[in-house]
Amino acid sequence: MKFSTSIALPLLASTCSAAVVKRQNGDGPQGSTDATQGDLGARPPPRFPFPILEFPIAKETVVFNETRYVQPGEVFDGQMKRYERVEGSCNEQAEGTDADAVFNLLPGSTIRNVIIGKHQSEGIHALGDAWVENVWWEDVCEDALTSKGLNTQLRVIGGGARNATDKIFQDNSLGGKYNITGFVADTFGTFYQSCGNCLNQAKRNATIQNVVAINGTRMGIISPNYGDEIRIKDAQVVDVKFMVDKEIGNNVQTVPYTVGTGPDEKYALYNLTRDRITTFNGTVLKQYVPANPYPWLGEFWPSLANKTA
Ligand SMILES: *[C@@H]1O[C@H](CO)[C@@H](O)[C@H](O)[C@H]1NC(C)=O
Ligand SMILES: *[C@@H]1O[C@H](CO)[C@@H](O)[C@H](O)[C@H]1NC(C)=O
Ligand SMILES: *[C@@H]1O[C@H](CO)[C@@H](O)[C@H](O)[C@H]1NC(C)=O
Ligand SMILES: *[C@@H]1O[C@H](CO)[C@@H](O)[C@H](O)[C@H]1NC(C)=O
Ligand SMILES: *[C@@H]1O[C@H](CO)[C@@H](O)[C@H](O)[C@H]1NC(C)=O
Ligand SMILES: *[C@@H]1O[C@H](CO)[C@@H](O)[C@H](O)[C@H]1NC(C)=O
Ligand SMILES: *[C@@H]1O[C@H](CO)[C@@H](O)[C@H](O)[C@H]1NC(C)=O
Repeated sequence: MKFSTSIALPLLASTCSAAVVKRQNGDGPQGSTDATQGDLGARPPPRFPFPILEFPIAKETVVFNETRYVQPGEVFDGQMKRYERVEGSCNEQAEGTDADAVFNLLPGSTIRNVIIGKHQSEGIHALGDAWVENVWWEDVCEDALTSKGLNTQLRVIGGGARNATDKIFQDNSLGGKYNITGFVADTFGTFYQSCGNCLNQAKRNATIQNVVAINGTRMGIISPNYGDEIRIKDAQVVDVKFMVDKEIGNNVQTVPYTVGTGPDEKYALYNLTRDRITTFNGTVLKQYVPANPYPWLGEFWPSLANKTA
């Protein structure tokens, strides 16, 4: 990595807990090897189907008095309960802090089988590399999942979000990477946004596949001037106005301005035909069906009851 210390230090200071875990080589601004994403191949296969259109119905609500930190190496299994903050409320005007989030993910953590309740001011913040599996947001306020830290790589598999007036996935990391697979988004502003005016800016990278996206403004916003890349493939999209908007980002916190929309060969890397991006017609194509499903899936997805009994 070739960050100058003046850029890296302020960020590391805010994520000093990252120091306890050996940083895996990321796909950083220099485009080095992709070790973290490679590691994921060794994880056991998911035990839930995706994408799946039905929103799970929580049977129980857990109310946290404060943010729950998921520790490095910890797998937080929410057992499909709904999680909220005791004072949780949505204020879209205010930018939430880590302390407002329901969960903070420390580097090397996993969160799975969780439903984030309505109107939490902030859903989940990832402060380092993390896995987000089968996580559902009932009603997104500002952002559902925000990536922070240095070169943070997130892998989202399955799950879904509804009513995200603003954004679902936000990347505020420095040089991070998002990989979103099999997610269902229903009613949203922006599916994925690379921070347009963070104080520290570097190329960010998103790959989005096998998602179903219904009724939104756009799938992505990227800043080509920082070298951002977004790839979209095998996606089913309907009633979404734009695929990818491109804006000139800045690091002085002014409002970025849009310079174009649509695919190109360097930054917005998708092609409707080549990448099999189709109009969603109500039928999920290429659904992942787990070989070893959780025995309780049918309790939350009645349509799966006979398949998992
Ligand atoms: C962005 O991620 C994709 C998928 O992992 C990878 O092929 C590509 O090389 C990455 N781009 C850069 C500039 O690192
Ligand atoms: C949350 O705070 C309430 C009221 O102060 C207290 O009764 C409760 O035990 C706390 N719950 C947890 C999980 O700490
Ligand atoms: C969607 O979010 C808006 C703004 O937060 C809220 O007013 C509305 O009730 C939500 N709608 C649904 C269907 O949850
Ligand atoms: C993204 O995640 C999916 C699901 O885990 C995986 O199959 C795919 O190889 C990943 N893509 C990249 C570019 O890392
Ligand atoms: C589509 O999204 C808009 C907000 O952009 C919302 O008002 C409307 O209710 C949504 N339509 C459906 C069918 O959910
Ligand atoms: C998309 O890919 C198809 C098939 O490979 C090709 O014919 C077409 O020109 C491409 N479209 C754009 C806009 O690049
Ligand atoms: C949607 O499209 C798929 C694939 O083309 C097709 O098999 C299916 O019958 C269609 N469903 C509806 C409801 O039109």
